[in-house]
Amino acid sequence: MTRQDEQILFDLRWQRSERDLVSSLGRLYGATPDLLPRLKSLLAKRWQERSAPLKALDLARDIDPDWFLSERNVGYVFYVDRFAQDLKGVLKHLDYLEEMGATYVHFMPCLKPRPAPNDGGYSVMDYRAIDPRLGTMKDFETVATAMRQRGMSICIDLVLNHTAKEHEWAEKAKAGEAKYQAYYWMFGTDAEPKAYEKTLVEIFPADAPGNFTWYPDIGKWVWTTFNEHQWDLNWSNPEVFLEIVDVMLNLANRGVDVLRLDAVAFMWKRLGTNCQNQPEVHDILQALRAATRIAAPALIHKAEAIVAPRDLVPYLGQGRHAGREANLAYHNNLMVQYWSSLASRNTALMTHVLGTHFPESFRHACWATYIRCHDDIGWAITEEDGSAIVGVSGPGHRNFLADFYAGKFPGAFARGAIFQENAATGDRRNSGSFASLAGLEAAHESGDPAQAEMAMQRMLMGFALICSFGGLPLLYMGDEIGLLNDHRFGDVKEHAHDNRWLHRPVMDWNAVAAARAGQGPEGRLFEGVKHIIRRRKAVPHLAADAPTRIVDIGNVSVFAFLRLSDEGPLLGLFSFTENWTTVSGEELRKLGISAFRDLLGEGEVTLHADGLAVAPYGRIWLI
Ligand code: GLC
Repeated sequence: MTRQDEQILFDLRWQRSERDLVSSLGRLYGATPDLLPRLKSLLAKRWQERSAPLKALDLARDIDPDWFLSERNVGYVFYVDRFAQDLKGVLKHLDYLEEMGATYVHFMPCLKPRPAPNDGGYSVMDYRAIDPRLGTMKDFETVATAMRQRGMSICIDLVLNHTAKEHEWAEKAKAGEAKYQAYYWMFGTDAEPKAYEKTLVEIFPADAPGNFTWYPDIGKWVWTTFNEHQWDLNWSNPEVFLEIVDVMLNLANRGVDVLRLDAVAFMWKRLGTNCQNQPEVHDILQALRAATRIAAPALIHKAEAIVAPRDLVPYLGQGRHAGREANLAYHNNLMVQYWSSLASRNTALMTHVLGTHFPESFRHACWATYIRCHDDIGWAITEEDGSAIVGVSGPGHRNFLADFYAGKFPGAFARGAIFQENAATGDRRNSGSFASLAGLEAAHESGDPAQAEMAMQRMLMGFALICSFGGLPLLYMGDEIGLLNDHRFGDVKEHAHDNRWLHRPVMDWNAVAAARAGQGPEGRLFEGVKHIIRRRKAVPHLAADAPTRIVDIGNVSVFAFLRLSDEGPLLGLFSFTENWTTVSGEELRKLGISAFRDLLGEGEVTLHADGLAVAPYGRIWLI
C-alpha cells in the first residue's frame, strides 16, 4: 500500500466511526476543544506504526467484522507461567493448542505487575512491558506472529479500572504532581470517602475491606476498590481516556487481537450509587471501541463485568450502543446456572433466568461462554428469580450452593472451598476446579469408578453446553484433562491468603501424556472434549449469530434451547441428572421437530413409546 492509499483508508475508517466517537465523548466530557484533534493525531500515528501483516489483518477483519462469531472459533485460557513457564515455552506447546482445536488463546495477566502480592497480575505497573518472569515484548511478538500463522488469535488482559500504586502515574501523583493526582481518586479528608462508602459494596471483604485507603505519607485517601495496591483510575478525566487509548493501540501493534477489559463495571463513580454499571461506562466502552476500530480494526474488545443479568446485557451493546460496545462479554449467568442445576438436579431456575433476562442475539457481539475461569463463583441469584420458581428462595438457594460446592452439604459430590465470606451480609462465594467441583476429586477419594464416570459425564455435558449455547466457548487450562484442586496453593506465600489459587494449578504435562494415551477417565474426558470441539466446528448452526431461544421441554432434569440458524433449527438438550430420563415426543413435535439426527453423537435418533431417552448427563444437538 502506498502512503496515499493508507491515508485514504484511515480517512474512511475515521468517517465510519466518527459519529460513535464524537457522540460518546461528548456525553462524557462535554466541550473539551482539543480532545478530538489530539485523539485523531494519536490514532493516525499509531495506525502508521502498525506492521504490514497487521495492516493486512485489519483489512481482512474490516471485510469480515464478525469473524469471531464463527462456529470455528474455540478459546483456551491460561496463565503463561502455569502453562509453559514462559513465553518461549508457549511456542513449544502450539501443537497441543492446535490438537485441542483452539483458535483463540487468552494469556492471563502478562503485563508487568508490581512485585507480589499483585492479585495474580491484575496490579499492573507498566502497560508497555511484559512481566519479566515471562519474557520480553520481543518474545511476545514472536509468539503472536507464530500463532497468527497458525490461525490463532491472542487475547490479553488490560486492567483499565486501576493501576498498581507503583505505576509511573501513581508515583508522580504521590510526588505531588497535580496532573497525575487527577488521574486517580484522591481526597484530603475522609468526608467524601465516607459519603461514597454508604452505598458501596465490598469486593474482597475478608482480604481487603473498605474501598478507600489512607496514605499518611502523602496525606491522602485514595480510591482502592479491590486491593490497597490497586488505585482506581479517574475516567471522568479525558487525559486518562487518551492515555489508555494509547496503551491499547500499543498492545494491538504488538500483535494482540483481543483485549479483555478487566473490571469495567467499576469505571465510573457516582455518589449515592454502588458505583457499578453507570451509564457513562457504556459511553467509555463505545468510545474505546470506536477509537481502536479506526487505528487497529483487527482488534476486538471483551468486557469483564460479572454482574446481574439486567446490568450485564448492556455490555454487549443495547439501544444507542447496539453493535458499538464490547464484542464479547462473559456469560457469568450461564456459568452460575450450570452449577446451580447440577447441584439441584433441576433446571427450572436456569430455564427461567436464561429465558427471561437475555436477548436471543446481539449485533456484532456475542457471549464468551465458560464453565470455569480463574475467579471464584459468585451465586448471582436474585430473590426475584428464586421466588419465580416454586420452592426456591434466593438466599436459601445461594446458601445451599455455597455449602454444596464447599463439599459441606450431605451427599455433595463437589470438593471446593468458600471464598471471601462476608460476615455482614452472609454472602459466600466458592473456589474450586471444574473437575473437583464436578465430582472427580471425590471419586478419586472413594476409588469408585462409577463416580468418576459420572464426574466425567457432568464435565462433558458442560463442555457441550458452552460449545453450543451461542457465543465463543472458553476452556480453562487443565479442565480438558480434569486437573483437580491444587491443595498446596498455600505453599506459595503470596497466594496463601487467596484461595482462588486452589483452581489455578500448574499444567501437568505427564497427565496430558496419559490422557493422550487414552488412560483412565481423564483420557476419555480429553477424547470427549476434542470430539465436542470437532463437532462444534462442523455444525454451522452453532455460529454465534444464530439466535438462542431457551425452551421448556417439559422435563425439569433437562435444559433445552433452540439455535435459530439459517440452516434450520437445532435443539440442544442437556441432562442434569445421573439417571436416565425421557423427553416426550409431543414436546419435540411442538417445537416442529419430528425426525431427528444428533449432530453431536452423529447418529439418527429414534423414539421409544413416544419418548426420547436421554442418558445420565446426556447432551444432544438435534436437528
Ligand atoms: C477481575 C479479575 C480478578 C481480579 C479483579 C481486580 O475481576 O478477573 O481476578 O481480582 O478483576 O483486577
